[in-house]
Amino acid sequence: MIRNRVEVLHGVNFDVLGRREAAHYGGLTLTELEVRVMHFARDLGLEVSFSQTNHEGEFCEYLHRADDGADGLILNPGAWTHYSWAIRDALEISALPAVEVHLSRVDEREEWRRLSVIRNLCIGSVQGKGIDGYRDALEMLKEVLEE
Ligand code: DQA
Repeated sequence: MIRNRVEVLHGVNFDVLGRREAAHYGGLTLTELEVRVMHFARDLGLEVSFSQTNHEGEFCEYLHRADDGADGLILNPGAWTHYSWAIRDALEISALPAVEVHLSRVDEREEWRRLSVIRNLCIGSVQGKGIDGYRDALEMLKEVLEE
């Protein structure tokens, strides 16, 4: 059985990514990011799908349903990363291999960004590499999905 389907979930404020601080987030729109990630995935032989929401409960519901259509997850929950125990619990329920990605270097910004409540449920975590962090995450998932 081929396991190659990756769902990329973006959380709060990613719908307006192009309007956020370019110094941290690169100035690209979410659509531009998704097109790049789609190309990375194609090069790696992975199928990728995307969802974004500004509603925490909806993000949890994406996770509840994730195993219907995905074999692995890439999560960038934005600010929820730092405090949403509900998202952490929902990720645990999904039981899928997941990689956490942050465009910016969260460990070197404000103190409150240093905690990630999802990190120790993830098979990997990438930060501060901008869009290339998503390629790293896809590579990590590919390795695990091929095992
Ligand atoms: C972010 C980092 C978070 O601290 C922030 O709240 C975001 C984006 C990142 O990709 O660097 O919304 O997840």
